Amino acid sequence: MRGAPRTSAIAAVAAVAALTLAACGGNGGEPESGGSGGGGDEVEVFTWWAAGSEKAGLDALVGVFEQQHPDVTFVNGAVAGGAGSQAKDLLQTRLQAQDPPDTFQAHAGAELQDYIDAAQIESVTALYDEFGLTEAFPSDLVDRLTADDGEIYSVPSNIHRANVVWSNPQVLTDNGIDPAATYADLDAWMADLDKLKAAGVTPLAVAQAWTQVHLLETVLLADLGVEGYSGLWDGSTDWSGPEVTAALEDFEKLMGYTNTDRDGLDWPESQQLVIDGKAAFTVMGDWAEASYVEQGKKLGSDYTAFPVPGTDGVFDFLADSFTLPVGAPHPDGAKAWLETVGSAEGQEAFNKAKGSIPARTDVDMSTFGEYQQSAAESFKSDAIVSSLAHGAAVPVATLTAITDATSKFTSGASDLAGFQSELAAANAG
Ligand code: GAL
Repeated sequence: MRGAPRTSAIAAVAAVAALTLAACGGNGGEPESGGSGGGGDEVEVFTWWAAGSEKAGLDALVGVFEQQHPDVTFVNGAVAGGAGSQAKDLLQTRLQAQDPPDTFQAHAGAELQDYIDAAQIESVTALYDEFGLTEAFPSDLVDRLTADDGEIYSVPSNIHRANVVWSNPQVLTDNGIDPAATYADLDAWMADLDKLKAAGVTPLAVAQAWTQVHLLETVLLADLGVEGYSGLWDGSTDWSGPEVTAALEDFEKLMGYTNTDRDGLDWPESQQLVIDGKAAFTVMGDWAEASYVEQGKKLGSDYTAFPVPGTDGVFDFLADSFTLPVGAPHPDGAKAWLETVGSAEGQEAFNKAKGSIPARTDVDMSTFGEYQQSAAESFKSDAIVSSLAHGAAVPVATLTAITDATSKFTSGASDLAGFQSELAAANAG
């Protein structure tokens, strides 16, 4: 993906146009881009933010939408299941049946490219000009959002970090482990996981397959480093090589510290094991921050958050973004939604509730929580890599093949050599 230059003069004209559009309740006389009509009276928004802290984030965004576009009815098309584990299949069925929602959640990066290649989403480049978004987002992010044809196909709502360990300090203290300890690498961390295991405590909470892939990606990052990890996605790192074997051995060891009921849980439940003191650590993206805040927990005393050992100084990146599907029944409603998603007010309200940081660079972070302020600092100074489990690094089909291979391995249906060759095959296709 590459960037498309925009001028600030265009942006200034666009800002005026955006105000006009807002004043018209989202029906600013735009030419229709799809569907049977302007459809500015409603918008069906398809996400997987169906419950708990994720729904709270969506609700905060809807609150701003209702203020900015009081004439457009928000229709919630959310489908439960973390990381889109149920939603993405259902979305594909709808898109193939020519029954798209008005807008849907998709990750910036390779996942978005899938929808572009299948001609399932429209360019929103004109909206970037209209809403002044090109200057509002970091240029790196605009590059990641810009397709090879020079067009932009979605509006990002947020930036999440995937490589975060969350701990319960009380469980650590009770077991003679310093809750402020930092670990240089996975081996150092595993020395403490051993102590917890020996004491009969679940050292590391995990849930169903996608969370295991999430753990796997952070282990690959820790062991291969920024270049080696990024090379997995551009072909310059050999999936069949000894470095990957060593990382998979670490993954196998880490899975040995996890809860046995994992396959029946989703991320809120595995996170809750740590929050409730039934497990010591978990690795999860920083949407977990929102679940602590929602439950009134305090960073430092009730939980700690630190980069997965071996990944300090690296920000394992993903961004949620919203699209304009081809044939959306309410394209004007969708444009109104995209305007709110990209607006400073929308990004502030949404990200405060979601645990993520705004994609816009002009939102005042001083009113955000301590964790988010530190994530914003890291995003500015760290090396950025693309998340595997959350659509930034590989297309959906590759991720599905990796997830199947991971499930097979962690349920004992394949050995490490078989796992590694299935991973290599998934990435060769
Ligand atoms: C990610 C998504 C996040 C969060 C998470 C857990 O894929 O980008 O916003 O929703 O899944 O469901």
